[in-house]
Amino acid sequence: MAELRLNGVHRDVDAPAEMPLLWVLRDVLGLTGTKFGCGVGACGACTIHLDGEAVRACITSLSDAAGKEVTTIEGLSADGSHPLQRAWASFNVPQCGYCQPGQIMQAAALLKQTPKPTDGQIVDAMSGNICRCGTYQRIKAAIKSVGGA
Ligand code: FES
Ligand code: FES
Repeated sequence: MAELRLNGVHRDVDAPAEMPLLWVLRDVLGLTGTKFGCGVGACGACTIHLDGEAVRACITSLSDAAGKEVTTIEGLSADGSHPLQRAWASFNVPQCGYCQPGQIMQAAALLKQTPKPTDGQIVDAMSGNICRCGTYQRIKAAIKSVGGA
């Protein structure tokens, strides 16, 4: 049994300590907004926040997350009103949409640390998040609209 602080709520999770947090979120807790892409930390589809920092849930174990603040795309805002979620909608960022929860969580962590990132900082921060649909220009424009320097 592990204790998680998940999206602001205390959760007791009955799962093996070594289980990837991505499986815990999706299969044990039913939070399917966080996506599986590669499973090896190479695509960013599973990006969540651990104590406010972007991490890959597929290579983070349940025990790594115990006692920390875990935030998923479901917890970024209660109603999709986070400034990045609004910007994603107004810039029509998603194509298939699969990578976008991870993209938004990565971008949210960037803006928390660097509220007015330069183009270079945006590219650097987002470089580990792969989009097979090639929405990179719209992602960058949406981030800039919220916090661009
Ligand atoms: S599924 Fe976690 S980084 Fe690809
Ligand atoms: S929108 Fe399709 S993978 Fe990014």
